Order: sequence, then C-alpha cells, then structure tokens
Amino acid sequence: MAVIDLRSDTVAMPSPEMRQAMVTAPLGDDVFGDDPTTNKLLEVAAARMGKAAAMFVPSGTMGNLIGIAVSARSGEELIADADSHAFYYETAGAAAVCGVQIRPVPTEAGVMSPRQVEEAVRPRDDPHEPITSAITFENTHNRHGGIVWPLADLRAASDAAHSQGLRVHLDGARIFNAAVALNVEAADIAACADTVTFCLSKGLACPVGSIFCGSEEDVEQARRWRKRLGGGMRQVGVLAAAGLIALDHMVDRLADDHANARTLAEGLAELPGVKCDRGRVQTNLVYFDLDTMPAPAFTDECARRGLLGGAVGPRGMRFVTHYGVDSEDVQSALKICEEVLS
Ligand SMILES: Cc1ncc(COP(=O)(O)O)c(C=O)c1O
Repeated sequence: MAVIDLRSDTVAMPSPEMRQAMVTAPLGDDVFGDDPTTNKLLEVAAARMGKAAAMFVPSGTMGNLIGIAVSARSGEELIADADSHAFYYETAGAAAVCGVQIRPVPTEAGVMSPRQVEEAVRPRDDPHEPITSAITFENTHNRHGGIVWPLADLRAASDAAHSQGLRVHLDGARIFNAAVALNVEAADIAACADTVTFCLSKGLACPVGSIFCGSEEDVEQARRWRKRLGGGMRQVGVLAAAGLIALDHMVDRLADDHANARTLAEGLAELPGVKCDRGRVQTNLVYFDLDTMPAPAFTDECARRGLLGGAVGPRGMRFVTHYGVDSEDVQSALKICEEVLS
C-alpha cells in the first residue's frame, strides 16, 4: 500500500540530485574548519540570512539551544512565546544546559506585540528578579498553525527588544516557508534577529542538519558550544552537499507545499465534524479539530488506509505538506479522511 505521510515535513526524503551530490562531495574535517563542501554551504547560508558567519548543526534544537547559550548566561532569563518550540518541545534545554530560565508569554497567534515584549522585560533595579537578556521569536510559528509573522510586526517586536537591550534569536526552522509566503528574501526576515537557526531537514528535504547564523563573534562562541554539546562533526560535507542543492533548488518549490496545504485545508473544512481555520493555513502546516471522533482514533483509522498524520491533542490534528506529497496525494488524503469520518 502506498503511504501518504503527512506527519511532518521532516519525513521528506532527499532528492536524487542531493543523493548524487552527497556521494561525490569533496570532504575534510569540519571541526578543524577543513571541509570544503561545508565551508561552501556556510558561505551561501550566511549570505542567504544576511549574516557574517554560519555553522552547521545536527538539528534545529541544537541550533536554538546554541542561540540561547550565546545570548544569555546562567541565571538570566529569555522571553519566548508560550507556544514556541523552544519552550514547548526542546526538553527544557535552556534550563538544563545553559541555566537560562524561559519566560513564556502567551500570544494570540504566535505574534508578540512590542508592548508584550516590553512588559515581559524585568526591571533592572530589582535584585529579586533575574536579568532579562534575550528573546526568541519563531517564524513560521509551528504550534500557531505555521503562521507567518507580518514583517512589520516582526520588526516592531524586534525593535522593542533591542531598545530594551535584549539579544534576539530567531527560530527560523521554516524561515524559507515564511520568505516564500511573504515573497521576500529570508535575509529580510533574519535582519530582525542577531542570531538565527534554520533547518535543512524540513521543507528543504535534506536528510540531516540545520544552520546557525550570526556575527563572527557569535559563531566563534557557538562553535565552542557545539563542541561542548557533542555536535562537532567531521566529514559533514556529505550532509552539507545536500544543503547546497536544497538552497539552490528546494526553496521556490515550497510554494507548491503551501498550495497543497491550502487545498487540503479547504477540503477538510468541507467535511462533517471538521473545524479548520483556513485563514491560519498560510504555509505548509494544516491544523484542524475533530468534533465527532477523538484524534488518536482518527489517526489510527487513517493509518490503516495508508494516510499518516499527527494527533496534537484529544481532538486536534496536524497534517504537513512537503516535497514527498503532490496534489494527487492531497486528493487521496481527503478521500481517506472523508471515508474515516463518514
Ligand atoms: C519551529 C521549530 N523549531 C525547531 C525545531 C527543531 O528542529 P529539529 O527537529 O531539527 O531539532 C522544530 C522541529 O519540528 C520546529 O518545528
């Protein structure tokens, strides 16, 4: 049975061109800074983010953790959206590894207003309170439906943070989805942050890897953190080779994933017992709620018919479109959902 896998864009397989490039990539030891393919990728990635320097990391989680580590010290505080990946899904790494407390700020739709930023900053003159050193923004915002921050809002929140003396880290795991949705360069978005992490192994379909970008000094510190975390890899050019192909060929096609997600959302919204807020489907994530069936049972029934998705709560579901899913798969997925719900 052919399986349509909508659990995440992380399941996307590398393209044949990526696999070929991985086989033939010139290699060296990246911990020594000697890997030519990685060095090329870092140059291209830093330029795409408009930053001075970049570093390869095994995962987005490690990139975010290092972003926090270079922005705040033990005993200090970092502001994050209460539904952010950094707060929700990174196993309290900031606290466990960096000694940094996250101050979660609930938001309407993943977008923090300048006022919320200002109100979350602790007064500097009260010795009872920790120093607020940094803030992290997430764009696109996963738990808020893959929404894209309007650029003006991101700039306003970032300006508010900088005017309070905070460092800004951007969790840009899906920054290229945001850039494609806004029709801007990723660098226009990353300009709002001092440091940024983006993932190669989500919509860009690479098998492994994320990139951390920032100033030369940030990346120098970040390399030390990466070593400490055990994330220094050697002939990582085998992975970087796929990243180079991804940045050349996988960014523009994200528009197809967004169109497929919209079709999926529209089809789902028509089904009985499904609530799907189509306005929030701006990129490749489709969140919806089920009125008539628990999400785990729905997931199981869909899986039995060859459709994989993720339950994100007792009634909440998430489908994600990606390189491995085409418009026919979307129609087949909708048929399966209809059958399961009827
Ligand atoms: C918004 C966001 N940030 C960070 C990550 C972490 O990436 P990784 O799975 O590579 O650690 C994810 C993963 O899904 C994510 O959605």
